[in-house]
Amino acid sequence: MFYRDFARKYFSLFICVCLLTCMSSCELNKETRKFRIGFSQCGDADDWRKSMLGEMKRELAFYPEMELLYKQADDNSEKQVQQVRALLKEKINLLIISPNEAQPLTPVVEEAFNSGIPVIVVDRKIASSLYSNYIGADNYQLGKMAGDYVASLLQGKGNIIEVTGLPASSPAIDRDHGFRDALNTFKQIHLIAKVPGDWIKPKAEKEISSLKQMLPSANLIFAHNDVMARGTYEACKTNGANNIKIIGVDALPGMGMELVSNKILTASMLYPTGGAEAIRNAVKILNGQSLGKETLLQTLVVDSSNVHLMKLQSDKMLSQQRDIEKQQDMLAEQKRIYNNQRALLYVLTCSLGLAIFFAGLLFYSRNLNKKINKQLANQNDEISRQSAQLIEMSARAQAAHEARLNFFTNISHEFRTPLTLIMGPVDGMLENPKLQAHTRQQLMLIRNNAMRLLRLVNQLIDFRKIEFNKWKIRASENDLVFFANEIVQAFQEIARKRGIDCRMLTKERQLPVWIDVTMVDKVLYNLLSNSFKFTADNGSIILSIEKNSETDQAIIHVQDNGIGMTPDEQAHAFDTFYQGDHESHKGSGLGLSLSKELIELHRGSISVNSQKGKGTTFTITLPLGNSHFSPEEIATADAGPLADSEKELFIADLLSSIPVIDEQDAPVSEKRKETLLIIEDNPELRQFLHTQLSARYHIIEADNGTKGLQMAFDNLPDVVICDITMPGKDGITLTGLLKNDIRTSHIPVILLTARTAMEQQIEGFRSMADAYITKPFQFAVLNETLTSLLSNRNKLKEHFTTEVPAVIRPGAAKKTDRKFVSEFISVVENNISNDHFVIDDICKAMCISKVQLYRKVKTLMGTNINEYILNARLQKAKYYLQHEDLSVSEVSYKTGFSSPAYFATVFKTKTGVSPTAFKSQR
Ligand code: FRU
Repeated sequence: MFYRDFARKYFSLFICVCLLTCMSSCELNKETRKFRIGFSQCGDADDWRKSMLGEMKRELAFYPEMELLYKQADDNSEKQVQQVRALLKEKINLLIISPNEAQPLTPVVEEAFNSGIPVIVVDRKIASSLYSNYIGADNYQLGKMAGDYVASLLQGKGNIIEVTGLPASSPAIDRDHGFRDALNTFKQIHLIAKVPGDWIKPKAEKEISSLKQMLPSANLIFAHNDVMARGTYEACKTNGANNIKIIGVDALPGMGMELVSNKILTASMLYPTGGAEAIRNAVKILNGQSLGKETLLQTLVVDSSNVHLMKLQSDKMLSQQRDIEKQQDMLAEQKRIYNNQRALLYVLTCSLGLAIFFAGLLFYSRNLNKKINKQLANQNDEISRQSAQLIEMSARAQAAHEARLNFFTNISHEFRTPLTLIMGPVDGMLENPKLQAHTRQQLMLIRNNAMRLLRLVNQLIDFRKIEFNKWKIRASENDLVFFANEIVQAFQEIARKRGIDCRMLTKERQLPVWIDVTMVDKVLYNLLSNSFKFTADNGSIILSIEKNSETDQAIIHVQDNGIGMTPDEQAHAFDTFYQGDHESHKGSGLGLSLSKELIELHRGSISVNSQKGKGTTFTITLPLGNSHFSPEEIATADAGPLADSEKELFIADLLSSIPVIDEQDAPVSEKRKETLLIIEDNPELRQFLHTQLSARYHIIEADNGTKGLQMAFDNLPDVVICDITMPGKDGITLTGLLKNDIRTSHIPVILLTARTAMEQQIEGFRSMADAYITKPFQFAVLNETLTSLLSNRNKLKEHFTTEVPAVIRPGAAKKTDRKFVSEFISVVENNISNDHFVIDDICKAMCISKVQLYRKVKTLMGTNINEYILNARLQKAKYYLQHEDLSVSEVSYKTGFSSPAYFATVFKTKTGVSPTAFKSQR
């Protein structure tokens, strides 16, 4: 990179220097051209004008600083005016003009002169004195000289014809004046005709031919220039006038001079072009030298007497001129070569300079390069050393991290067993009805805090599972309404105790969603338990479910009117280990973070909206269907919800914050009341039943069958009292629906009606109602029926859960419930020695979901599944210890305990004696 920049920089420098050199060498050439001279010629068809231009060019060769811009106007005044203007636009420094006609060219020449451009007028004049210098022979004198010569030639008598130049041009006027003035003194010389030849041969020839009649009487013709004299000669010859003497003007070597020498013309007045003088004067003016207004050129008569000498002179001059031209050409060539060589020399000098410079630079950069390379090598070594160190440190850190995490996970797992073993005996002690209130309170404190610890440990383990991507989602299709309702129900007891209105609201009867129930279970338990923590007694907590068909999502809101959050708390609510600013409820900072991870595994979202002092709403969105899951994320078998014990952990955590009141010592009204749902459209009867029963039961009411059915599903009451004839669903239909739904089939239903007919009663029992009371009825009858139904239910629970293995007594329960319980017991019994036996195995064997299994066992047997299995194993173990000749460790393996030590600990905790002691008692 450095070298690339370096090379680029110096290469640019090199190019610049070369360009500057070339430019400066061009400038040298240019410098010689300091002045621009514009030359406007009236025409250049004839040799005289060509000779003028030739003279100028030869002279210019001596002044390389002068540049000549040349234009000729084809003897057209108008054209010449335009050309002068064009020259002025080209910023000439001086104008040389030979005007075609005086008058038409005067204004433009004056304009140039007035604008500060020096003007040299050559040969022909303008009609003004606004010019710098005039160069030419005196045409009046030239005309006079011609007149005197003619007079002497004709010896004072004869007839003359005059052929003039262009009438408006100054030489034509002046020559005519001079000629006539000279002839005036000779009375016998007559000017018999004067014709315009306009300076050109054809016109003169034509005009002379038109004087055919007059020619024989003419002795001499004076033409204002040699070109017209030649035309005159040819006209005379054509017309047979061979004795006429012809005199011309110009005597240009090779032209007029030749005509005189060949005796075609008698004489010609020498009229120099003034080309060389024009350039010399221009140089003087441009160099600031002073100059007179007129530069007059000499003239003389060239005739047979001097033509030979003149020719010799002119030939000599011409050859000299040619030599000069040759030398000038050579000089120019030499100069060109010199300039080129000079430019080449500059380039070479610069290149040499640059070569030396680059050589120095190369040397310097090589040294620099070496130095940098050395530095880089050192740095490289250093980096390699550091990177090796970093790799080693990172490996060590990784190993340490792994070790820490493994330790952390192991210790978390280790915590679970002792915590379970703390809770087991405490539960056992709490079952003792004779416990003193204070002791009960202490034990409850131990139990609830142990549960809290267990919940935190579980969350930590879950978190680590997610962190290490080990917790894979296993989604199955579940009814979200049923699923969420189950969870809301689990909070009803605490809600009742704290007077919190906790309920689920939804318009949906069913809402199938694909979820991993073990995950969403944790999320909802966590959100609800949070709401309970931060909501004051008598507040409200609502879990609502809706379906957004547009976005194809299920939306769950968990809304409370609790203490709310500050914007800062909201912003960090889902951050791991963020605990907020609640002195009273410091959490682990894991619950919401874990919930977020779990919901995101479902490709859903969780957000919070809260206002300090007003309440908090958590919103979960879950995509409907299962197309967003990969095949391995779809559960093959029905996954179960949270283990009962884990649910208890959430509830226990909440209960731990409520002062414990011993139910034995508390007044009747403070004991756990069973919930009674009264579905009755008559408000008075409803009010009566409420008043009579509210002392013993928790009452919920509905005024029609439809509402009543929904309330039964939402609240799962302990008993339903229902009228038969009602708006909406009638009591018999309703009973049928409740009894055929697995969620509510266990709930006893008492039908109330005025209908006494036997068939109607039979219809009532057919719908599987548990009791049928006709109106009017005695309250005592209803009260007794209620007591007996509930006590039967409790007995049934006891029956199912006391001794294991149990025998089902016929008639003890409804047929469906009996079938369920016996199947459940037999699955457990068959797996008693299997230490890998888990709840999932029961679900698979009974073809039932975990939620359903949990609910049915809890309702029908009043126990949780794990507790039941543990009791079953212990009962079996007792049996083996008492009746079989087996060692303690054999018994422990036969009853599904993973190790004899664990078996001994659990056995002692549950029975108060060790297995060995128990065996020896037999
Ligand atoms: C050339 C010429 C000359 C003459 C002069 C007068 O064009 O005709 O022959 O002497 O011009 O301006």
